[in-house]
Amino acid sequence: MRIILLGPPGAGKGTQAKSISNKFSIPHISTGDIFRKNISEKTPLGIEAKKHIDKGHLVPDALTIDIIVDRLDNEDCINGFLLDGYPRTVNQAEALETILEEKGIVLDTSLLIKVPREFILSRMTGRRVCLNCGASYHITFNPPETDGKCNLCGSSLVQRADDSEETVSERLDIYDAQTQPLIKYYGDKNLLSVVDGTQAINGVFESICSILGEIKK
Ligand code: AP5
Ligand code: MG
Ligand code: ZN
Repeated sequence: MRIILLGPPGAGKGTQAKSISNKFSIPHISTGDIFRKNISEKTPLGIEAKKHIDKGHLVPDALTIDIIVDRLDNEDCINGFLLDGYPRTVNQAEALETILEEKGIVLDTSLLIKVPREFILSRMTGRRVCLNCGASYHITFNPPETDGKCNLCGSSLVQRADDSEETVSERLDIYDAQTQPLIKYYGDKNLLSVVDGTQAINGVFESICSILGEIKK
């Protein structure tokens, strides 16, 4: 399966991606996780990306597209992949189309996890993440089994620097202006499926599985 996850910050892309990746045995590729790993390791990419991410702005397309070109070349993508947080601009979507054309592969679908703005803030301020494996938790809606530790790898959980109320609001504005147009972009290509992201986490996953099950037939 070759899938793109679309949806605003806090929609649950990362949460669902872990389960989808597991069920369909495809790698979960999150540009946000790649940037955060580079930031924590203080690489040149991380230092540059941090300037934009901390303000809630997008990292420039030139940097982001190169990361995806490299990542999709990896052997583990041969049988499919799940992109989470890429593309985020029409320019990035066009670049992806070119990369896939060159490889002679096609997308199965983009999946929009639809969540209205009023749900988002409480999700973001209660979020805790694992910087090691990218897993995402919530202090109320999805607490880890052991306080402050990742269920999957045992690493310590942290709050993301860009999850403050002010930065979340900026990220949502940027989503509306720059990423929302992708809904029409993929809709016009008949490559859009929509899931109600206001359901509980398991309910969202069941909806996604039934859509992907239909596509696989
Ligand atoms: P990125 O890490 O991709 O952040 P995002 O798109 O803003 O999305 P989030 O990770 O915040 O939300 P999510 O949908 O994954 O939600 P989650 O599952 O964690 O990007 C970060 C930054 O990097 C960007 O702002 C940008 O600067 C840069 N960047 C990344 N990609 C880029 C690109 N392609 N181009 C340019 N710049 C790029 O869930 C959120 C919370 O809600 C959690 O606490 C979770 O437990 C909880 N939750 C999830 N589902 C539910 C549910 N159904 N009910 C209740 N709670 C739920
Ligand atoms: Mg995420
Ligand atoms: Zn972890």
